[in-house]
Amino acid sequence: MTKLIDGKAIAAELRGQISADVTALVAIGVTPGLAVVLVGEDPASRVYVSMKEKACAAAGIYSVEHKLPVETAQTELLALIDSLNNNENIDGILVQLPLPEHIDEAKILEAILPAKDVDGFHPYNVGRLVTGHPVFQPCTPYGVMKMFEHIGVELKGKDVVIVGRSNIVGKPLALMCLAEHATVTICHSRTVDLPRKVAAADIVIAAVGRPEMVKGDWIKKGAIVIDVGVNRVGEKKLVGDVDFAAASINAAAITPVPGGVGPMTITMLLYNTVLSAKRRSGQKI
Ligand code: GUN
Repeated sequence: MTKLIDGKAIAAELRGQISADVTALVAIGVTPGLAVVLVGEDPASRVYVSMKEKACAAAGIYSVEHKLPVETAQTELLALIDSLNNNENIDGILVQLPLPEHIDEAKILEAILPAKDVDGFHPYNVGRLVTGHPVFQPCTPYGVMKMFEHIGVELKGKDVVIVGRSNIVGKPLALMCLAEHATVTICHSRTVDLPRKVAAADIVIAAVGRPEMVKGDWIKKGAIVIDVGVNRVGEKKLVGDVDFAAASINAAAITPVPGGVGPMTITMLLYNTVLSAKRRSGQKI
């Protein structure tokens, strides 16, 4: 029987722990604070940002949203980041990506104080992850790792195939799996014979952003399938990067879309914000 990996349930349990941590911090006078910066009108980004705000409120985290017009100058955005870096009520700063074309994304990410970089995208934090001494780990891949932990998947010695090499998901996830002693293969658009690569995997993680690109008959019997993709098809329907129905035939366990990895991302953002506040309170973590 294929086991459905219920991201909503795992996220709910984690959020319960996070709320309890927030209560304890507030009791000692440290309210975790998150600033979210959105430049422009990208509809998907607006939805994510409002979800983040609601999740913060539910967990008792102070959150402030900065919605800037699409024509905002880079210097203005840098000035806002500088003020947030120096704001002692703010433990985490998240600049929603993608940014408008005229803004240099790398420059913006580098302007965020690494100690408040709850996205884990600053080169300092990327370097810490590469060397195995993470400070903040990017939310979506970290959420996938928490899922493995929750359902008791041991990565040691496993063949993990990741489809997708983004800075946000594929690359950091490869490093996290490597740190857990998996053998990791990163596949991408130029990979030769992708079906054969996927068929060799004990664990398949799809993060390419192409609807149902990973086919069911590529999946080895007993493999674990994690689908990070969220693709809108038509007006309402959301599908992942994996052909869920077909992949379920061989998979031992699989994440649905929606209700799989999705709820974990914002949960890990809350987690990182609380982690940052714990550090502000003097805890050595
Ligand atoms: N855009 C898509 N995913 C993310 C994310 O995890 N963080 C930020 N800042 N922007 C994103």
